[in-house]
Amino acid sequence: MRHLLRMNDLPADEIMRILKDAERFKTGKSLLQETPKFVANLFFEPSTRTRFSFEVAEKRLGLNVLNFDASLSSVQKGETLYDTVRTLEAIGADAVVIRHPDDEYFTELQDSISIPILNAGDGCGHHPTQSLLDLLTIQQEFKRFEGLTISIHGDIKHSRVARSNAEVLKRLGANVLLSGPEEWRDPLNKFGQYVTTDEAIKTSDVVMLLRIQHERHQGENEGLTDYHRRFGLTLERENAMKPNAIIMHPAPINRGVEIATELVESRKSRIFKQMENGVFVRMAVLKRALESAKLNEEENTYAFYH
Ligand code: CP
Repeated sequence: MRHLLRMNDLPADEIMRILKDAERFKTGKSLLQETPKFVANLFFEPSTRTRFSFEVAEKRLGLNVLNFDASLSSVQKGETLYDTVRTLEAIGADAVVIRHPDDEYFTELQDSISIPILNAGDGCGHHPTQSLLDLLTIQQEFKRFEGLTISIHGDIKHSRVARSNAEVLKRLGANVLLSGPEEWRDPLNKFGQYVTTDEAIKTSDVVMLLRIQHERHQGENEGLTDYHRRFGLTLERENAMKPNAIIMHPAPINRGVEIATELVESRKSRIFKQMENGVFVRMAVLKRALESAKLNEEENTYAFYH
């Protein structure tokens, strides 16, 4: 079963295949759907980019979209996540996309649900499609990962983006630097070396900023002040970046906190390019998921068409 749960489950050759398919979708290709397919999107946490880029991706692939609204569902009557997903499977969903506030919510599902689960973000755990769209953006810019210096800045401890990206970037040969407040260091993130914000910014090919995850702080770190001057990408720090270095941020952005507002759409910024790439990457992971459902059939790959 080709669930997509964590980046560290994906071998490098599968990652490269997904990025290649995403590039093909970017040229306008789609898939030939012989029979109607249904994909259910279950978002138990707020989302703009992931939710709507999945929906655009599904519609571009000719899939039927089932948008699940937890507030109008039987979750309100106490139905469990497992029973909810099992119900969607029973009524004909061919895949489910799930965002959930609990770390690794999928462990109770992955061996019992027989349709592919695409993780759209689990608590502080993993965000594989964000990581893949980040990889696509870096690959488009530099044509490689090996030897690049990539710094990840800010709320490392609470960030599923940091966790997914640090592991895969290190595995693909990048030199990963981590930077930010001491309070937000992640003892579980062993894939990068901590350095000061200034050192990280002046040595990096990619400056990857993170959103401060206020909703996961539970009252801790409330005293952290003056973040932008101490740890953010100020205009002065942007001037110290390498000439061909780029700025990334998964968004949503806290303007004037993680990044000076003038830099959000500046020459070095690839923030909106990341969002654009999100649609193509999500088309590619949906293709991969639906192909896994065809493994028992004669034809197990989808044909592209214009
Ligand atoms: N980057 C990201 O996951 O954004 P959303 O929370 O808006 O989906």
